[in-house]
This record gives sequence, structure tokens and C-alpha cells, in this order.
Amino acid sequence: MTLAIEVRDLSKTFRGSRKALDNVTLKVAPGEMVALLGASGSGKSTLLRHIAGFVAGDAGTGAIQVHGDDIQRHGRLSRRVRFARQQIGFVFQQFNLVGRSSLMTNVLTGMLPRVPLWRSLSKFFLQREIDVGMAALAQVGIDDYAFQRASTLSGGQQQRAAIARTLVQNARIILADEPIASLDPESSRRVMDTLAEIQRERQVTVVVSLHQVDVALKYCPRVVALRQGQVVYDGPSSELTPQMLQDLYGAELSELLPAGLPPATDATSAASTSAGQAVPAAAADRRSNRLRRPALQTA
Ligand SMILES: Nc1ncnc2c1ncn2[C@@H]1O[C@H](COP(=O)(O)OP(=O)(O)O)[C@@H](O)[C@H]1O
Ligand SMILES: [Mg+2]
Repeated sequence: MTLAIEVRDLSKTFRGSRKALDNVTLKVAPGEMVALLGASGSGKSTLLRHIAGFVAGDAGTGAIQVHGDDIQRHGRLSRRVRFARQQIGFVFQQFNLVGRSSLMTNVLTGMLPRVPLWRSLSKFFLQREIDVGMAALAQVGIDDYAFQRASTLSGGQQQRAAIARTLVQNARIILADEPIASLDPESSRRVMDTLAEIQRERQVTVVVSLHQVDVALKYCPRVVALRQGQVVYDGPSSELTPQMLQDLYGAELSELLPAGLPPATDATSAASTSAGQAVPAAAADRRSNRLRRPALQTA
């Protein structure tokens, strides 16, 4: 089976700083929903931006493919990166919509690589294209606002429009970089429900970087955790222990955990593996130390 995403030995050093990505290897199967966790500065955005082909890794290192198509190799973007990129929808923390344009226009820009240049310049869309845009807006629950300016809508609604744009694009992979970081809890829930529904119904692959640990556990069966640019955990979210989270986030952790999750205790730290291990050992006696994982809510 062809992997949806394959990252091999990817490193990235920004000028004058330590490695933002340090030999990252990651495989994601089609249709998975994966959370990317890590403290601020751990490399989440950098990794997503490399997968999307926005930036190239260090010269001579690494390779990234999506569905078998090269994004980059040895620190150079593929010549066919534009083609490969069409499979990828990117969702940004700050939505990236054109505020004075309608939701419909914003969403239909997802089609631009496929429509002739004169039409994309004139923003002239065919009725059947508008129908596709409407269906996408309906899927994310905001078709009532299709012809309203994006800037008049709430952050949560704008983010759902950004997701609808990836549907119009027919993206098979959605990379979402902290999509709920600017949203209130209710809007966050709706955005995450929307991503989960699309993943389930369309078998789209979703990789979402999140700050909130409880959200990752609720929505994503698999967690990949980064620390200082290295993958320090890749496994079931149900096997993440409080101690691993403590190792990942340090002092930041208390802000990221809601009251319902247990703090790391001596007992859990004795039983848990260190976060320095790539894959945790599946020890039966660790079960009691696992974090509670709320049931997945459907929209
Ligand atoms: N364009 C850039 N130039 C220089 N350093 C950068 C740039 N982008 C990210 N970094 C550095 O790379 C590291 C990882 O950053 P980032 O991927 O944004 O982390 P995260 O998204 O997990 O907060 C940080 O040390 C950050 O300062
Ligand atoms: Mg980031």
C-alpha cells in the first residue's frame, strides 16, 4: 500500500539556530487522523510546512513523498511539487481567508489550479462550480453564510470555511497547523468535529498540530510528539502517560491539561517509559496509568 505521507531522515537548520527538525522519520497511512504534539518551538509548524512543500530541508538530507509523489529530496523541492501539492490542503491557525471576499469566493479558490487563468483572474465561476462550493460549505455547516464577507463571520466559521476550501480542492491530505489555537472551546469543538467527520466520511488523511493535549486524545487515535525537532513518541494516544507529557511539555503542561486529567505522580513515572523512546513498550501494567480518552463525539 502506498503511504499517504512518508518523511525520511528530514533535518532542518535555520540560519544561526539549532536544528528545528532533527532526523525526522514519519509514515502516515491513508485515512489516518494523527495529532502532532509538542511544546512551542518543538518543530510542529516546520514539519507541516516541509510536508506541504513550502520549504526544503537541509541540503543533502531527507526525502518527503505524498502518495508516492516526491515533495522534496536531499533538500531540494521536487520539480513536480506543484502537482504533488494539489493533494494537500493546508489549514492555518489564522484561517488565511480574504476578508472582503465572500465565503463562496474564498472556498472556490481551492479550485484555482484547475480553472483557466482568465476565469481565476475574473473570479468568474460556473454554476456547477458554485454547486461544489455550496456542497462543501454545507458539509462544514456554514452554507447559510455562503455569500457573506468572510470578515463578518466568527473565527470558528472562518476556520470551517478554510476546511471547506480543502474539500473543493479535493485534497486527499489535510495538514492543519494549530487550527483551534485562536478559537473558543465551542468553536474548537466544532472545527475538530468537522475535521473528524471529513476524515471518517471521505477517508481523507489528517495531520493536525495541537497544543491542547485533551483535544488530541479525544480526536486522534495516534499521536506523534516532537521535542526539540525530534520525534520522541509515535504511537497510540491511549498509551501516552502523564509522565511522557510531563517530559514533552515541562512547565508548560499545567496550562495545557484540563482539570479532568491526572497529574504525573511518582507511581506513574516509575511505570512509564521515558519520552526519549520512539515507540513505547506495551506493558500491561501501565494500563492504569493511561490517560482517560473521552469518547469521540460526532457532529
Ligand atoms: N523561518 C524561521 N527562521 C528561523 N528559525 C525558525 C523559523 N521557523 C521556525 N524557526 C525555529 O525553529 C524551531 C521550531 O519552530 P516551529 O516549527 O515554529 O515550532 P512549533 O510550531 O512547534 O511551535 C524554533 O526554534 C523556531 O524558532
Ligand atoms: Mg507552530
